[in-house]
Order: sequence, then structure tokens, then C-alpha cells
Amino acid sequence: MGASGGLGLEMIESLFEGGYKLALHYNSSYEGLEKKLAKMSSSFCKLYQADITKETDIQALIKDVHNDFGRIDVLVNAAGITASGMSWKMDASDWDKTMAVNLTGPFLTIKHSLPYMREAGFGRIINISSIVAQTGVIGTSAYAASKAGLIGLVKTISKETANKNITINNVALGYFGAGMIHEVPEAIQEEIKEQIPKKAFGNPEELANCILYLCGDKASYITGQTINLNGGLYA
Ligand SMILES: NC(=O)c1ccc[n+]([C@@H]2O[C@H](COP(=O)([O-])OP(=O)(O)OC[C@H]3O[C@@H](n4cnc5c(N)ncnc54)[C@H](OP(=O)(O)O)[C@@H]3O)[C@@H](O)[C@H]2O)c1
Repeated sequence: MGASGGLGLEMIESLFEGGYKLALHYNSSYEGLEKKLAKMSSSFCKLYQADITKETDIQALIKDVHNDFGRIDVLVNAAGITASGMSWKMDASDWDKTMAVNLTGPFLTIKHSLPYMREAGFGRIINISSIVAQTGVIGTSAYAASKAGLIGLVKTISKETANKNITINNVALGYFGAGMIHEVPEAIQEEIKEQIPKKAFGNPEELANCILYLCGDKASYITGQTINLNGGLYA
């Protein structure tokens, strides 16, 4: 989910080279994915549209993916939005929308994928959380709360699914050099970079590598965790 976003687009080749056939989701941005796939000329990637806040859309998408591929081994939840503003000024509608996309959305994709994974006796689920949920950042109450919600979600679902060889984890990102970071003014981006012990934004390929690791046999005992990928910013 969220393959059309900045991080999603940058990870497609790495995940494909990792040996996966890819069901790539978008909501409103189709062009970037089309361009990327044209370059790859692969018949093992298919595009699917859905609004992650609508359960009927998600149910149909997951069913279509299962019909097309015959299985759903891995689910990556990378769709997300931000809403900036001090808590006392934030519209409740912005709060609701952020929760719907960032927390209810992953819940719905997991809910509708799990019957297929349980039946197959195998599954790997990875959600993208954020350092903002762990440290708090001024002006991000809805975003931080939604990403913190994922931490409780994976702890519970890991216990519900461990007996079926299904693992579920979050990767909590620091600041990465693609996607929503471009909404931050450049001067502030430089200030953020200075605070990161590695003095650089994360590279989407490093996120793809972490996802591939969590999906592989060597990580089959890791479940219910939130793995930090943040250049040392939060330890
Ligand atoms: N970039 C970073 O530094 C960073 C840091 C920490 C965490 N994260 C997290 O990493 C994930 C990817 O971030 P990004 O930087 O790639 O963000 P991005 O470029 O803004 O992409 C956002 C993605 O979410 C999808 N989306 C938004 N609303 C949706 C909806 N209602 N239904 C379905 N899909 C929807 C977008 O689809 P369309 O464009 O097709 O509408 C797009 O694929 C997010 O969960 C974000 O919170 C990113």
C-alpha cells in the first residue's frame, strides 16, 4: 500500500530484485508508477487503486490481488498523510482523516489480508511508523498519535497470528530523503540533518533492505516489534 508515494516508488526495484511479484497500490497518483513500470518492463507487477479509508475498496483490492497472484505472502503498509498544526488549532476533521489513513487504513488492509495468510499458514506484515510517535514533535499530534497506534496494533496482532507462521512488525523511520520530507522547508531540512548522528537522511533502499530482511527466513522469530531506522536519532 502506498507504492505511489515518494518512498514507495523508490523501493519498487529493490523489492522486485528481492524476488517478489508486486501488487502496487495507489490512490490518486498513477503517473509515477506507470513511468516506473514502463522502465522495468516487468509482467510481475500490477497496479491497484483504492482509498485506504474505505473498507469496501480495501476488501475488493485484497480480493483482486489474491485472484491475480494466487497468494498474499507480504503486506507493506506505506500509505500515510501528515497534518500539521498546534493541537489547540487543529480541526477535528484533520485529526479524523489522519487517523483514518494512517491507523484505520493499515488495520483494514491487515484485517482483509489475514484470512488468506491464515489459510496459507504464512504471512509477513510490515507497517511504516515514525520516530515522531516515539519522541513527539511540535505540531504533529494527529500524525504522532496515529503512528503510535501502530505500535499497539502490531503487539496485539502478533499474538493473534504467531501460531499461523505470520509475523507483523513496524519500521519506525527517522527522516528519509524522499516523499513527505519535501513538505518541510529546505532550511529546516538542513537543521534536521544536523541533529541526526549519521548527518544524512535515510535512503529508501535501506528501508527496502530492512523490509526484505523482515520478510525473509532469518527474521521468522521477529514479531510484534517496532524496528528503528533513523540514523541514530532515537536510541
Ligand atoms: N519520508 C519520510 O521521511 C518518512 C518518515 C517517517 C515515516 N514516513 C512514513 O512512510 C510512509 C510513506 O511516506 P512517503 O514519504 O512516501 O509519503 P508520500 O510521498 O506523501 O506518499 C504517501 C502515500 O500515501 C498514499 N495515500 C495517501 N492518502 C491515501 C488514501 N486516502 N488512500 C490510499 N492511499 C493514500 C498516497 O497515494 P497517492 O499519492 O496515490 O494518492 C501515497 O502513495 C508514510 O506512512 C509516512 O508516514 C515517511
